[in-house]
Amino acid sequence: MNATDFPLAFADSGQGTPALVLLHAFPFDRTMWQMQFAALAAEVRVIVVDLPGFGESKAAPFTVDSAADQVATVLDTLGIARAVVGGLSMGGYVAMAFARRHADRLAGLILADTKSDADDEPARQNRDKTLALVKEKGTAAAIDSMLPKLLGDDARTNRPEVADAVRRIAVRQSSAAVQHAILALRDRPDATTGLTAIVVPTLIVVGEHDAITPPAAAEAMVSRIPGCRLATIPGAGHLSNLENGEAFTAAVRDFLKTDIVNAAS
Ligand code: MLT
Repeated sequence: MNATDFPLAFADSGQGTPALVLLHAFPFDRTMWQMQFAALAAEVRVIVVDLPGFGESKAAPFTVDSAADQVATVLDTLGIARAVVGGLSMGGYVAMAFARRHADRLAGLILADTKSDADDEPARQNRDKTLALVKEKGTAAAIDSMLPKLLGDDARTNRPEVADAVRRIAVRQSSAAVQHAILALRDRPDATTGLTAIVVPTLIVVGEHDAITPPAAAEAMVSRIPGCRLATIPGAGHLSNLENGEAFTAAVRDFLKTDIVNAAS
């Protein structure tokens, strides 16, 4: 498949260079960035992308590498030479693939609630179980099985509206998209060795209580990427941009205003 065969859907708002591209987690779409999109587009150009099959993008088999190529095609379409690329969890896997494959297009990198290592055998077997569940019962069954681990205690116990919003985004994703994505997640390469080659300003973000890609995974990436910084989002679990949107947005804003501005001057 060529990256141009299946153009990805996106929304683009705000002005300035470098633009910020945000890539969503599994199994969501670009609307999970609603809060950051609204707040940050008042200050910089922000592009939120629907990864293959999700939101308004067409479903087709993909890998994290092919998805990264499709993100580069979005930049081509918009005439953008270099961007700050950020992704949360699955979006982070694609952002790391973008860094490997399109380093010359990268002005900065944001890796949120993600990790660089590949799935081990038990994790691969879990992917296969989730795949079987989605095939048999659809996307809703998959998100219901994931939800307890996705959110931190505070959102899960005290703010049912967060789980409702997360579920609402997930259940509208097609079973085909979710199945393709599970294979892309299961078969993604180990990105660990590539981290040392990253030369752009990098921000690692992690929810304080992330149970899927925990703070230790974030710290392991920090130790490999020269000069990168870590932001821990208080009270949040895996979906830190939704669980504590203000702190997440503030961390990204601060990174753009300091590290990215300093690198450009
Ligand atoms: C995600 O949030 O995108 C997924 O939890 C990633 C994964 O399962 O590896």
